[in-house]
Order: sequence, then C-alpha cells, then structure tokens
Amino acid sequence: MILRQVRDSAADAEAVRRIARSAFQDLADRTGGGGRTEAPEEEARTVQQLARTRHLARTDPQGCWIAEHDGEAVGAALSMRREGVWILALFVVLPAAQGQGVGRLLLEQAAAHGRGCLRGLLCASPSPAAARRYRRAGFTLHPAMTLAGRVDRAGLLDPGDIPVHPGGPVHRHLLDSVDRGARGAAHGPDHDFMLAHYDELLVADTLAGSGYCYRDGGSVKLLAATSKRIATRLLREALARVPDGTEAEVEFLTAEQEWAVDVGLEVGLSLGTRGYLAVRGMRPPTPYIPSGGFL
Ligand SMILES: CC(C)(COP(=O)(O)OP(=O)(O)OC[C@H]1O[C@@H](n2cnc3c(N)ncnc32)[C@H](O)[C@@H]1OP(=O)(O)O)[C@@H](O)C(=O)NCCC(=O)NCCS
Repeated sequence: MILRQVRDSAADAEAVRRIARSAFQDLADRTGGGGRTEAPEEEARTVQQLARTRHLARTDPQGCWIAEHDGEAVGAALSMRREGVWILALFVVLPAAQGQGVGRLLLEQAAAHGRGCLRGLLCASPSPAAARRYRRAGFTLHPAMTLAGRVDRAGLLDPGDIPVHPGGPVHRHLLDSVDRGARGAAHGPDHDFMLAHYDELLVADTLAGSGYCYRDGGSVKLLAATSKRIATRLLREALARVPDGTEAEVEFLTAEQEWAVDVGLEVGLSLGTRGYLAVRGMRPPTPYIPSGGFL
C-alpha cells in the first residue's frame, strides 16, 4: 500500500467521492441510518463534494492523502490548516479495506500537516472505528445533536429587532473576524468556496455584535456570531428561508449550543443525536454551528 497526495484533478476528486460514498453508505447500513448517506440523485451535493476535494487539494496539498493498494484508491483523508487550527474534513476507507490499519496511516499522514497547530477540530460520524482513532489522536469527543424536520412557520412570526441581510464577497473581512472570535481562526479561502456553492449567506452587523450564517437548501451549513442573541436571530432567519416543503437540518450541536436547540424546538424540529464534535486544545466554539465540510 502506498500513500500519496491528492491531486487537483477530476480523477482524484472522483476517487475520493467513490470511497466516501461507499464508506458512509456501509456505515449507514450498519448503524440503521446513523451515517451520512448520499443518494445518487443528489447531484448538487456530488458537485459540491468533487469541488471541495479539489479546493482542499489546492489550498492544502500536504494535508490531503489517498491510500492506494494495487493501483486502486482504497482510502482518503482531507485536512487543512487555518491560522493555527488543524481541521480534518474527510476520513474514509473502503469497507473491504477497513480494520487493517489503513485509516491509522492516513490519519497520521494528514495530522503531520497540522504539526505546530495547537488546536484541532473535526466533525465525527457515529463510526466506533473513527471515534477510536480520534480519541487516540488526542481529541476530546463531544456527543452531538441534530435538529431535523419541517419548519413550523408559526414559530417564526416575530422576526426580532436585529437586522439580517444577504451577504457576499464584500463581507469577507467581517466573516473572518467573526470566525476568529468564535473559533480562533478565519475560514479564509473556504468562504470563497461556500459563497460559490451554497444557496445564500446571511449577515448581521450591528453595534451590539455581528454574525453570519450559510444556508443551502434545508441545511444550515455554518453559523458564527459574537453573541447568542445574534446567533439566535440568524438561525431563525435561516430556518424561515428554508423553501416550503424542504426538510430543515442542523447538525453537530453540542450541549454548548442550547440556544440553537431552543430555536429548533420553537419551530417544531425534532431533536436527535448523531456523531461528535471533536476538539483538541480548545473548547467547542460558541455560539457556533460547525459545517461538516469546513468546520
Ligand atoms: C473511520 C475509518 C476511516 C477508519 O479506517 P480503518 O482503516 O478501518 O481504520 P484502522 O483499521 O486504522 O483503525 C480502526 C480502529 O478501530 C477499531 N475498530 C474497528 N471497528 C470497531 C468497532 N466496531 N468498535 C470499536 N472499535 C473498532 C479497530 O480495531 C482499530 O483500532 P486499533 O488500530 O487500535 O486496533 C473507516 O472505518 C471508515 O471509513 N468508516 C466509515 C466512514 C466514517 O465514518 N468516517 C469517519 C468520518 S468522521
């Protein structure tokens, strides 16, 4: 078996996607839907996944690795370094190759990219093998909650007094500043990706504080703010803008994000548990909803 860097190519992006799909489907089958499944018809999501792999292969070539056995790609780890935080974005091994140490080697190689970073962050699936690897790598695992369901708009009648408006590239400095306050590191180039691929960015910028939130379809992708009050307003606005008939989903909420749990319950979403937010050298950021793809 050899490990090699992921190239910024269509072929490598497709290889990573194929492994991820197979690994997460197998996990979902074994845990009764606990994994993150990827329906073949979810074309937009596939395009995003391919584009994200190429984006990370460009920004962090030394953090993105493929494991090959007899010329076939059997595993992948995608990671990035952002201002002193090492972030693991994807970690997958084909089901037939699991349990043989491929994951350990991939994770060690990707983690070498984060050497010198005092802090680490990742969103973990419910996979016991993944949890074992992360804990052994020094991460603290915070069990995570999800909110899902149809938004009951009666719970959103009062918009509140904090103005929220659509954002864009012009807000990059604001976004990076809010990131630094919330998680100690800007998302930097990842904002370019999210602006290009997600349906919308919502921004609140007032004398009392600032924040932002990305929404893509029914999914609240990432939210960061300088106060719970601003975060609450942004989440309510994002949920209000989920198209009619689309299921809303908010993931990776630890107990620190009770403000978000309360918003979800107010608008009739169902609370469940899935996976972990894993942190090293830091507390879970708050008020904050991480994005599975960029943390
Ligand atoms: C997580 C994953 C990448 C690990 O890859 P892998 O090649 O199987 O990993 P390794 O063989 O190096 O290590 C797995 C460890 O978990 C242990 N393990 C495997 N299944 C386990 C289980 N059901 N319960 C507890 N431990 C388990 C193995 O014994 C091994 O530990 P050890 O090396 O200390 O003995 C792979 O299992 C996978 O793709 N899972 C599905 C996708 C996923 O959830 N990815 C993580 C996203 S956050």
